[in-house]
Amino acid sequence: MKLARATAHSNIALVKYWGKRSDSDPQLNLPAVGSLSMTLSELRSVTELGPAPADSFVLDGSEHAPDASIASKVFAHLDRVWAAGPSSDARPPCRVNSVNHLPTAAGLASSASGFCALTLAAAASMELALDEGRLSSLSRQGSGSAARSLWGGFVRLDAGNASDGSDCTARPILPADHWDLRLLIVHAVRGPKAVGSTEGMERSRTSSPYYQAWIDTSAADLDGAQAALTRRDLPALGQIMEHSCFKMHACMMASDPPLVYWRGTTLEIMHELWAARRDGLEGYATSDAGPHVKVLCHANTAQALADRLGAVPGVTDLQIIAPGPHAHVEFPSEEATT
Ligand code: PMV
Repeated sequence: MKLARATAHSNIALVKYWGKRSDSDPQLNLPAVGSLSMTLSELRSVTELGPAPADSFVLDGSEHAPDASIASKVFAHLDRVWAAGPSSDARPPCRVNSVNHLPTAAGLASSASGFCALTLAAAASMELALDEGRLSSLSRQGSGSAARSLWGGFVRLDAGNASDGSDCTARPILPADHWDLRLLIVHAVRGPKAVGSTEGMERSRTSSPYYQAWIDTSAADLDGAQAALTRRDLPALGQIMEHSCFKMHACMMASDPPLVYWRGTTLEIMHELWAARRDGLEGYATSDAGPHVKVLCHANTAQALADRLGAVPGVTDLQIIAPGPHAHVEFPSEEATT
């Protein structure tokens, strides 16, 4: 093993994933629907991994005991990456030091960048020759959205049908400089801790009467969004993106007990966005398993939209983010730290 450092950027799905395949090994973490995302500049995880006398995990400067829930997920993931290599020996102990360059307490998808960076750092440190497809599917086993963080620009993850997950693959569809878009991240006041995505997805699968409709209508969104993105058609992409988001949230809300990730401010932001659109400022909303709103727009309308949405009561922070780059690995000298 050697010291390796990986950087992976977070991503936001323009066409959403919600729900896991129930006909296959849960360890494979296969999505029930495909998804299409934009990788985010700036928002990233940097993870350094090297050999050590015993397993240790430091996140944002705080050490987590090996049996703490977050650390045990990290070490289970290292076991998974090690098992993808040729050795039948036990995995050597590792020191993991990870830093999330994401806004503090934002409830943004740090699991996407985090599991992708962990996978890349582990494979590089363990000197495993794994191709990008394998690295992406290993990342997916840590967190579904992490499969998309390997690449910059715009990325598509296809759900596939094979029970071994062999046709569940992610791939870059268009580079970051394809189109000068921005994603505004409009932070709404945080509520009580939301239900985690794995538990929430299972609840929707088993109890939401809208779950099947959500699954059945997703493939058309995926193809429509890719086509709109390719021809740089923002109204068409935005319409599909908002519809995908609202279908997902309708499916969540119709779960029993209900999954309501939005707060009042979330809806106020969306209404202000639609009012701005009527005034000629074009932007389209999406939202994940949390209260924040993400708005896709042209670079030249980003600041005007940000000024307008930033003034909505309850908005606590706002960032303007460009399409981001590929994940990458470096081999720092022994003294270096993240
Ligand atoms: O990757 P997970 O398990 O955190 O799930 C991500 C789910 C959504 O963010 C709601 C949608 C998506 O495709 O990223």
